[in-house]
Amino acid sequence: MMTDEEKEKLIQIALQVRSHAYAPYSQYQVGAALLASSGKIYDGVNVENAAFPVTICAERVAVFKAISEGEREFTAIAVATANGGMPCGSCRQVLAEFGLETLVIIADGEGNILHESTVGDLLPGAFRSGDLPR
Ligand code: THU
Repeated sequence: MMTDEEKEKLIQIALQVRSHAYAPYSQYQVGAALLASSGKIYDGVNVENAAFPVTICAERVAVFKAISEGEREFTAIAVATANGGMPCGSCRQVLAEFGLETLVIIADGEGNILHESTVGDLLPGAFRSGDLPR
């Protein structure tokens, strides 16, 4: 269980990193802050591209940064946008790879929590490693 203070810290980091978003095409800045079970926090922003589909979301940047540093388990991710948008399907799938219990905290541009649920709640019936033939 996370304390309110821990949640608040994660939201503040997501809000702050949002200003680093590279979003010249959509102008939709997204900041993410991912708390690993090690206690370390990895942030991420969306990085757009003139070839639009190449764009990567803030959540996946945060996860990939963490994985690349050796992390594999995550307690929570805070996502901050102007209007409290929800993680896209691709980001839900990437988060599901590393656990269905990870808490997803959605905040708006003022840091208000608009939504809280687990990755499993956001992606029922997720396709996972156990679904692959062995
Ligand atoms: N975006 C994210 O960063 N995370 C999401 O889960 C949804 C969408 C970004 C991608 C793109 O840069 C912008 O928001 C508009 O879709």
